[in-house]
Amino acid sequence: MTTAQKSIPVGVPDIDEDEVQEVTRVVRSGWIARGNELEEFEKNLAQYVGVEQVVTVNSGTAALEVDLRALGIENKEVITTTTSCAPTANSILHSGNTPVMVDISPQDYNIDPEQIEKHITKKTGAILPVHLYGRPANMSRILEIAQKHSLPVIEDCAQSLGAKWHQKMTGSFGEVGCFSLNINKIITTGEGGFIATNNAQVAERARIIRNYGREISRSDYCYTLFGYNFKFTNLQAAIGLAQLRKIDRLIQQRRKNAAYLTRSLQGIPELQLPEEKEHEFGVYFSYPLFLKCPGLRDRVKEFLEQRGIEVRTLFRPMCDQPYYKKSWGSPGQSYPNAELVGENGLYVGCYPRLTPEDLEYMAEAIKESLKKIKRE
Ligand SMILES: Cc1ncc(COP(=O)(O)O)c(C=O)c1O
Repeated sequence: MTTAQKSIPVGVPDIDEDEVQEVTRVVRSGWIARGNELEEFEKNLAQYVGVEQVVTVNSGTAALEVDLRALGIENKEVITTTTSCAPTANSILHSGNTPVMVDISPQDYNIDPEQIEKHITKKTGAILPVHLYGRPANMSRILEIAQKHSLPVIEDCAQSLGAKWHQKMTGSFGEVGCFSLNINKIITTGEGGFIATNNAQVAERARIIRNYGREISRSDYCYTLFGYNFKFTNLQAAIGLAQLRKIDRLIQQRRKNAAYLTRSLQGIPELQLPEEKEHEFGVYFSYPLFLKCPGLRDRVKEFLEQRGIEVRTLFRPMCDQPYYKKSWGSPGQSYPNAELVGENGLYVGCYPRLTPEDLEYMAEAIKESLKKIKRE
């Protein structure tokens, strides 16, 4: 039996002395809930994404739900990709809407824009693409379709902070961009999320919704909207400020890691590697691989895990998940690309803390796994 020589998780945060100092300063100040750091973090995030307003919340899931509510989308159908994790569809359900799933493009694993229009009905309230695995969705086509049908676009940018489509940041195309700051994201504050928008009214409504439905400046307990406690803390903002200062280096390192893996694995007939187009700038939330021959994925995964390399499967279509299938399946719909990717795709880590030795070890293990499977 092979013993694990190394342990390479799918994600490790880049936390150093800068974060420690920021947090210590905030703890000493006593301003651990609200405070100046929170305001500064929101301002800096807005500048980074290239929007006028940022509203922080306590998770990416909350960001998605709050903005659907802030936009006043209710009892509508929200068109989204079937390939994502549960928060995307859950936020649509939580906000009183129905998700309508669209198949993906097997090349970039993002919503296939050419399949959106056939799902648009009188009940459609928004289009919600996800920039999956740090790769931007085709925003040119999505915006074109949205404009034609006068629909707002909400971008799920949980995995794509810093990713660009034609040099423009994801999260700055639609009416709202929703980001996650959880532990394995491009930058992290442990948990957390934020909404990016140029719409001042939506931002204002989002601030009220995250604060129980009450304007924070009012002391008379007047609830103008349905709300939650989705607040982000000044302590988290302190970590976020330190993280945001180094985001360019973090992304550059992710891109270097991805380039190394692509160089090492290029030309292997069984593998489809992430292939960035000229107008794309990916941030490689992870390094996705698609195994072209059915039946290979689980064997490669097992081999890598035996070598101490953590592997995750690419998302299965949401409509095939037990809960969703039972409660609101899409009878008659088929999602061949999403199914193929869900059955044959996997990802490994691509985060900045991976060393050159880790990357070499990963690439060699992937190659070795395929050779071994061929021999068997
Ligand atoms: C694509 C996508 N959307 C939404 C979320 C939700 O973010 P959070 O975990 O911060 O609630 C995540 C993250 O986990 C995600 O990967």
